[in-house]
Amino acid sequence: MTAQQILLYLCLVLAPTTAKPPNIVLMLADDLGYGDLSCYGHPSSLTPNLDQLATQGLRFTDFYTTGSMCTPSRAALLTGRFQTRSGLYTDVLLPGSRGGLPLSEITTAEVLQAHGYSTAMVGKWHLGYGANGTFLPTHQGFQRFLGVPYSHHMAPCQNLVCFPPDIKCFEPCDENYVSLPLFWNEQIIQQPVDFTHLEPMYDAFVECFIADAVENSTPFFLYFASHHPHIPQFASEEYTGKSLRGHYGDALMELDGSVGQLIETLQKFKVEDNTLVFFTSDNGPDTQQKFNGGTSGLLKCGKGTTYDGGVRQPAIAYWPGRIAPGVTHELASILDILPTFVSLTGATKPNVTLDGYDITHVLLKGGHSKRKSIFFYPVFPNQTQGVFAVRYGKYKAHFFTQGNQHSETTPDEDCSRTATLTSHDPPLLFDLDSDPAEHYNLLAGGITPDLQQIMENITLEKDKFDTKMTFGESQVAKGIDPQLEPCCNPTCTPKPFCCRCSS
Ligand SMILES: *[C@@H]1O[C@H](CO)[C@@H](O)[C@H](O)[C@H]1NC(C)=O
Ligand SMILES: *[C@@H]1O[C@H](CO)[C@@H](O)[C@H](O)[C@H]1NC(C)=O
Ligand SMILES: *[C@@H]1O[C@H](CO)[C@@H](O)[C@H](O)[C@H]1NC(C)=O
Ligand SMILES: *[C@@H]1O[C@H](CO)[C@@H](O)[C@H](O)[C@H]1NC(C)=O
Repeated sequence: MTAQQILLYLCLVLAPTTAKPPNIVLMLADDLGYGDLSCYGHPSSLTPNLDQLATQGLRFTDFYTTGSMCTPSRAALLTGRFQTRSGLYTDVLLPGSRGGLPLSEITTAEVLQAHGYSTAMVGKWHLGYGANGTFLPTHQGFQRFLGVPYSHHMAPCQNLVCFPPDIKCFEPCDENYVSLPLFWNEQIIQQPVDFTHLEPMYDAFVECFIADAVENSTPFFLYFASHHPHIPQFASEEYTGKSLRGHYGDALMELDGSVGQLIETLQKFKVEDNTLVFFTSDNGPDTQQKFNGGTSGLLKCGKGTTYDGGVRQPAIAYWPGRIAPGVTHELASILDILPTFVSLTGATKPNVTLDGYDITHVLLKGGHSKRKSIFFYPVFPNQTQGVFAVRYGKYKAHFFTQGNQHSETTPDEDCSRTATLTSHDPPLLFDLDSDPAEHYNLLAGGITPDLQQIMENITLEKDKFDTKMTFGESQVAKGIDPQLEPCCNPTCTPKPFCCRCSS
């Protein structure tokens, strides 16, 4: 070998080990529907930054969550495991809940922290607070946390300002809990939260975190779980009155603004081409809130149901130079996030039963997903019934259906509370490629031999899945203790109203 050849050889051999592991930003919207972004077809949403990520990145058409409520889907997102395993069912955790994401569960943050990553979370947690903050993000692998431990409507809001200068929050909030606490790690720094300055504070936190990680030459993992566009909508001055969609549109614009700020920060610190930004939403739109609830577009129903409007999500993967711009119809799930991040970073896969697949190949090579099927649990999972619906290739079969209050007010009666639990035998079967709205039951007029084959396969998949699934002890069923609600002045009386501090 000549000296040049030797040099070239050394470079090739050394390159993979000296290449820096990528930074990862996982952005989650709250109750954002499949049809709410302009890049997913909404005619009047103003989301230029997300649209740009979609144009320059990979946009998914068939990306799913595991259950159509905040707590279960967030548990699945961070652990790569169905919420039934971790016990994050039925429904959602409340401010005084005794339970939370068990500390024995291994989150993406823990996996990446163990691999040398700086980790941080900003925004809505909703995986438990517990006695003395047992379940806060700082106990689940996040070195820094700025945010709220649960949903921001789980607090009094009728006298708060949601839009400057003095537009009151007008949604029905839960007036009987403590006012909304803002945490810095495990410390309450504001109670109630000042909504009109919250997002700019989050943006500043993000910039600071990235600056520190870059300065320390550590790869970073940031989980930005936005409160937007969940009710009650709010925004800072910059976005108030700026959209064409009223309060909902303004809140969505503020979320989009944070995406823009994030990209600017990545560019400023010259890490954009070594950072994967992944954006998705936790569950479908809360149509019960009418104009303030969002839309699932052409999909059926919304939040709280196992129809596609409840579980199919917008999802965008952006990584300039690594992910080719395009649209993918491959099947993917929030369960796939953890295994994929593990694979992209070279971190160690946790030694637990994972329900997700590594979709690196779909992201980087435009390849096919290994997923053949996706399973959907209702808000009230029951081990005897098992999953309510199964996506299998282009087909979706419903073994049980049930409406939900969060999917009310649309003309479709299947979505509302009055559509009580119904078992279907034979199941309802839809071809989602030609009928994404789940209008036309393929089995309505009897079964053909082709469909017989498909139904046999789907039924087999469901039975196999249900038999293997072990339900963990329900964390939500541990109940609530009002004494556990976070209070900035723990010894004050009378609770919960005395828990107010500003700093
Ligand atoms: C929280 O911690 C304090 C101080 O360690 C202790 O006195 C209190 O009992 C704890 N509260 C709960 C609910 O465990
Ligand atoms: C993984 O966990 C199982 C069960 O807890 C244990 O038997 C096994 O030794 C573990 N494997 C590794 C590589 O740690
Ligand atoms: C679960 O479903 C079975 C069968 O439909 C029913 O008999 C049982 O009461 C349900 N359990 C609960 C806790 O709802
Ligand atoms: C049914 O499953 C088998 C085994 O995975 C597969 O070979 C076959 O193509 C499937 N049939 C249909 C119609 O999907």
